[in-house]
Amino acid sequence: MPKVVIYPGSFDPVTNGHIDIVERGLKLFDKLIVSILYNPNKKYLFALEERMEMLKDCLKKFKNVEIDSFDGLLVDYAASRKAHAILRGLRAMSDFEYEFQMALMNRRLNREIQTVFLMPGLRRIFTSSTIIKEIVQFGGNIDGMVPALVKKKLKKKFALELESRQSG
Ligand code: PNS
Repeated sequence: MPKVVIYPGSFDPVTNGHIDIVERGLKLFDKLIVSILYNPNKKYLFALEERMEMLKDCLKKFKNVEIDSFDGLLVDYAASRKAHAILRGLRAMSDFEYEFQMALMNRRLNREIQTVFLMPGLRRIFTSSTIIKEIVQFGGNIDGMVPALVKKKLKKKFALELESRQSG
């Protein structure tokens, strides 16, 4: 049976760190499903459709990758997709506590699904969607941290936000 893994997250937006994890994950699993959490209560910079479009474009070079979205419990979604595992990227130690708690809770909810952690390359260790958004907002350079398309979309989004703040 093919080994299927779910790579869940907010991907607001996808970064080169995420792409690094996808590349590594594909060495371990036959199929990788990148899945965006649909949470109407959380405020995102990009709408779900925009995040999906960016992921689709940035990951089109990989075979055996599917882009999807989910709501509700991650383990229920993983079971419905017949996945064997959940993949998460671990960067610095600061990620550890939250990830550890989430992995153990998910295991308590469904013992059949394992969580696998992979570390990105060293130059991606400090890449995070949150920090990238802050840098763009204040005009900093994010070359090499996100794909060109994402950089373009980020710049456009913040330009529009500024425009609407100034006119409002
Ligand atoms: O990229 P993020 O925001 O760190 O991803 C977090 C995500 C989507 C993996 C997490 O919030 C999640 O799995 N949410 C789904 C709801 C759920 O299953 N919660 C219980 C986890 S212990």
